[in-house]
Amino acid sequence: MPTDLRDRRGRALRDLRVSVTDRCNFRCGYCMPRELFGPDHAFLPRHEVLSVDEITRLVTAFAANGVTKVRLTGGEPLLRPDLEQLVARIAQVPGVEDIAMTSNGALLAERVVGLRAAGLHRVTVSLDSVDPVVFSELADTRVPLQRVLDGIAAVVAAGLGPVKLNAVVQRGRNEAGLLDLVDFAREGGHVLRLIEFMDVGATNGWDRSGVVPSAEVLARIAAVHPLDPVDAPRGDAVAERWRYRDGRGELGLISSVTRPFCGDCVRARLTAIGELHTCLFSPVGFDLRTPLRSGASDEELAALVAGRWAVRDDRYSEQRGSGTLPIGPRPEMSYLGG
Ligand code: GTP
Ligand code: 5AD
Ligand code: SF4
Ligand code: SF4
Repeated sequence: MPTDLRDRRGRALRDLRVSVTDRCNFRCGYCMPRELFGPDHAFLPRHEVLSVDEITRLVTAFAANGVTKVRLTGGEPLLRPDLEQLVARIAQVPGVEDIAMTSNGALLAERVVGLRAAGLHRVTVSLDSVDPVVFSELADTRVPLQRVLDGIAAVVAAGLGPVKLNAVVQRGRNEAGLLDLVDFAREGGHVLRLIEFMDVGATNGWDRSGVVPSAEVLARIAAVHPLDPVDAPRGDAVAERWRYRDGRGELGLISSVTRPFCGDCVRARLTAIGELHTCLFSPVGFDLRTPLRSGASDEELAALVAGRWAVRDDRYSEQRGSGTLPIGPRPEMSYLGG
């Protein structure tokens, strides 16, 4: 149910990304480096994390303000044993047309059939390399690459394909395996999306020298597999789409560092403890859990969301480019949702 709610830059609210947990069974260096997310790291205590009922009530408040797409993220969403119940509840929320999930794939094979039955529409799997050694280094996990590949195959077998594969391209880390990722995606009918390494959070040691610009990624792939731009309008999507000239699939480039897309950003983020962040880089969230747990009605929650969205002015990635960055603490992506 689209509404005419707009932020200060005229942007609607359409897409809600819900982080259902801040925990993960991987330790990707760009997201949860093990030195900082080790055995002593204080993850959120369980009572702080929203229940299925609570998330459903907040999703309802967002849907009343125009959200039609919901993406479940984390951390790793499959670490929640009640994810199937959550999907089933969100699928009942009026206005929600699309429910997607971003996962690292490790636990997908055993859950995807149940998730589909509950109402999940689409799955994105994070996959930075198809070389088992590079994969293990980057994801810093004992889960073998094969488990992730089996998870991807299970999504297709469950009828939820094509799968989107998200790869963050890092200079000197996985760039050498780029064409192997391309081949893997083309052979399996998956849509590979190559993402510029971002300065999100404060723990990943980001430096511009670690970023491989999308233009370079595109040139390297196109030298082997000629590509044409997909001429459908991009709308509010984050990826620029390219199609292989031989007809075997397509590719997405997500260039938040070199070609920011804040102008069309219709995305809100909800943390596992019920804070609304209006930007991936916004230092403070807007607390929706307190009113929720104090008995606010659906209408009151929807009004709180609308009031916060109406004053939104974020455009961090554009400001980074123009050198007018607001300085402040940045939340981690594992906490905020990818
Ligand atoms: P669908 O359109 O729902 O299929 O997904 P998507 O294209 O939005 O892609 P996805 O949710 O998989 O996001 C891919 C990656 O893009 C994320 O992991 C981030 O790295 C980046 N990204 C997504 N949304 C934003 C955003 O609002 N700002 C910035 N700077 N980066 C984003
Ligand atoms: N830069 C770009 N993308 C990131 N992700 C996490 N951290 C970063 C970062 N620093 C994205 C990856 C991953 C998803 C969960 O979040 O795409 O697949
Ligand atoms: Fe886990 Fe995804 Fe972060 Fe990797 S990127 S540590 S898989 S949440
Ligand atoms: Fe949206 Fe913020 Fe990302 Fe810009 S940097 S696209 S405003 S989330």
